[in-house]
Amino acid sequence: MPIDFYSKLVNASGVYTFRDFVLLPGRSDIEPSKVDISTNLTKSVRLNLPLVSSPMDTVTEAEMAIALARQGGIGVIHRNMPIEEQVENAKRVKRAESFIIRDVVTITPSDRVSDAMELMQKKSISGLPVVGTDERLTGILTRRDVNFANPNESIIDVMTKEVVCAGPEVTIEEAKRLMHKQKIEKLPVIDQNKKLLGLITIKDVYSRERFPFAARDTQGRLLVGAAISPHDVDRAKALEKYVDVLVSDVAHFHNVNVLSSSKKLVKEIATDFIAGNIGTIEATKDTIDALDGRVDGIRAGVGSGSICVTSEVTKAGAPTLFAVSQIAVALQEAKMSLPIIADGGIRAAGDGALALAAGASAVMMGNVFAGCTESPGGLIKIGGKYYKPYRGMGSSGSRQRRFAMDRYNQPAKGIAEGVEGVVPYRGDVQTVVEEFSGGLRASFGYAGAISIRDLWVKAKFGAITAAGIDELRPHSIILPGEEKI
Ligand code: IMP
Repeated sequence: MPIDFYSKLVNASGVYTFRDFVLLPGRSDIEPSKVDISTNLTKSVRLNLPLVSSPMDTVTEAEMAIALARQGGIGVIHRNMPIEEQVENAKRVKRAESFIIRDVVTITPSDRVSDAMELMQKKSISGLPVVGTDERLTGILTRRDVNFANPNESIIDVMTKEVVCAGPEVTIEEAKRLMHKQKIEKLPVIDQNKKLLGLITIKDVYSRERFPFAARDTQGRLLVGAAISPHDVDRAKALEKYVDVLVSDVAHFHNVNVLSSSKKLVKEIATDFIAGNIGTIEATKDTIDALDGRVDGIRAGVGSGSICVTSEVTKAGAPTLFAVSQIAVALQEAKMSLPIIADGGIRAAGDGALALAAGASAVMMGNVFAGCTESPGGLIKIGGKYYKPYRGMGSSGSRQRRFAMDRYNQPAKGIAEGVEGVVPYRGDVQTVVEEFSGGLRASFGYAGAISIRDLWVKAKFGAITAAGIDELRPHSIILPGEEKI
């Protein structure tokens, strides 16, 4: 058969990006404040907010993941670091708050005060249950007990022996009442044999009240994800106990080596697995086939990232909005329901709304979150304005750290697929999320949708021209700061 060069070009299907569409206003009786933007990140992980922070070394480490989970979303810890460091980041998120802390740091009655002080400092904690060799609780040691004690004294001589405790069935309200009444800040949880089961702290009780929409696991700990390479089983196995989801972090998942490594990987792990990135119907089908259905979500989009030069260098790309719709169609054909995470190119809430309308369940953002207080890296002042560093994981700066080099197939050492620069400082995650979710809710209001699922049904897209893009934004007005005559 001769190759049909003509049709290749002339019958090429259109690819579309966020800037090509608007959401048509629909008949609506929806108040934005009533819109439910909770969602599924995977088959089993539920979020109260459809926002995910990218696994990038200028975006997501523990601080970002904690702040975003408190708002109801989730952070995916990047992998451009040694395995132990990534595990430690995940543990920090899990330790940040929980109703009952299960892996309690304890001390024995025969230890010295100096040991306790060292432990408190190292782990940044202010109280230690004292547990004997029989695992039974014998006392509690707080900062007040050690503050004026001789460092050589034994714990047994300075600890508080009368400990107020709770049983395993204690509720959050009972714990709070008890702690108020007894004027204590730590409440050990024990069984009938006085065996220590966990610890409740007043800080965690308050934190639950402060962040009622936080995304939490069944033990009340914040949700967190971690990025992995499908080739790196060791990393996945080290992380899986401490994270709620493992997220594939390769630029081109539709690669036979990546698919076969992923097939082996999912057999080794029990945690939910998000595959990606992909952006075509064929890639979706091959992913489902290769993983025998053992996939819990799909990361959609190739080449749209704001720091991405993949498409510029290689001309390969599946823009995020297009990728979402391709995957949604393929899943529908396969009669499968899997959350799609739209990843890359999202600049504002409206882009997020378009991605959700096209079939996504959540949106992943690097640029937007890189500008927040909680991203790694300090503020940079340029010309009186503040910025934060942001770089692609395929940029030469990121690649120097080497751990995430295999995100890209590097045929030659010199080809970078990402750029590095700065983004405007936007304030803390809470402020950014409030603004973003307000925008999303307003979009849902215009579309007449009460939830993400409802948006999938009701949203109607309008294709827009370059002239339209120009008209649908402020024009014919000089804005403050632009008054150059
Ligand atoms: P942004 O929100 O538009 O900045 O896009 C962030 C997304 O870009 C990430 O979640 C990754 O999928 C992708 N990405 C990260 N680093 C690179 C890179 O160096 N080149 C291409 N894409 C990247």
